[in-house]
Amino acid sequence: MIIVFGSLNLDMFLPVRRLPERGETVLTPSYSFAPGGKGANQCVAAAQALKAAASDMTVAMVGATGDDDWAAPATQILRDVGIDVSRIAALSHPTACASIWVEDGGENEIVVASGANAYVQADQVPDDLLTPDTWLVLQMEIPPQSNFDLIRRAQPRGAKVVLNVAPATPVPTDVLDMVDVLVLNEGEAQTVLSGETTDPTQQAKTLAARHNLFSVVTLGADGAVAATPDQEWRVAALPLEKVVDTTGAGDAFVGTLAAALALGHDHPTALRWASTGAGLACLTLGCQPAYAALRDLPARVSEVPKPASA
Ligand code: RIB
Repeated sequence: MIIVFGSLNLDMFLPVRRLPERGETVLTPSYSFAPGGKGANQCVAAAQALKAAASDMTVAMVGATGDDDWAAPATQILRDVGIDVSRIAALSHPTACASIWVEDGGENEIVVASGANAYVQADQVPDDLLTPDTWLVLQMEIPPQSNFDLIRRAQPRGAKVVLNVAPATPVPTDVLDMVDVLVLNEGEAQTVLSGETTDPTQQAKTLAARHNLFSVVTLGADGAVAATPDQEWRVAALPLEKVVDTTGAGDAFVGTLAAALALGHDHPTALRWASTGAGLACLTLGCQPAYAALRDLPARVSEVPKPASA
């Protein structure tokens, strides 16, 4: 089983020709809403990747929305793809929302209003779900302390812990020692390593060796570098004909990686799947709606070369 513990947002997408400068107003003729949030995105990506692999593994989302009109649209795709939503609390705080500006070429800027996400608690995940068959996936859009509390309960019970440190947040050493898979970009790795090194390969190697885990430092269009204490890999990005929107590509990477590992794939194969999932997520606007393209994972994974030793 895969449990994603994290954020649920309603995303408002504003496509712009170019991102505004500080203090500048830019106009755009249209906007659209879609379910988002790094947690829910990773959950949908994992479910779509499992579906593409013809697996019926259970995927559950644990988090919170408000008890308001935005809760239903924020959870619609989770329900549509058959994710267990029974542990999403409806709280007396607004459903979180994100304002996402996407410029031509696919780059974005995002502001998230946390709302109900700020009240997610570790005890929403009962002990009986934290077993050696569980892959627990977490990110940093809910209170860090809730994540740390849950990881400290999950690891001793044998659950595998996948932590995506996005947005960048310092993580206590004892928590990092309990993580099995750590996914972060270069900036996030700098935060976790307190600025120790800016070289992504060195970041991945240092984190893997110091905390005895599988670390993956994502590099956007340049793919990712990854390490275990005794091996390193570099994986390329999926070659794309046209990038429409990179929003949520990192979440697709994490969700696909978790699905591939939960299916028993080895590290280099899981990296290849994750890179393919991230690329497919860039072909249309949005996050969860764009992840429908993950149905093409099995057909397109061979376009990403087998990860080479870095
Ligand atoms: O990673 C993309 C996500 O970041 C968006 O869905 C938005 O909600 C923000 O959380």
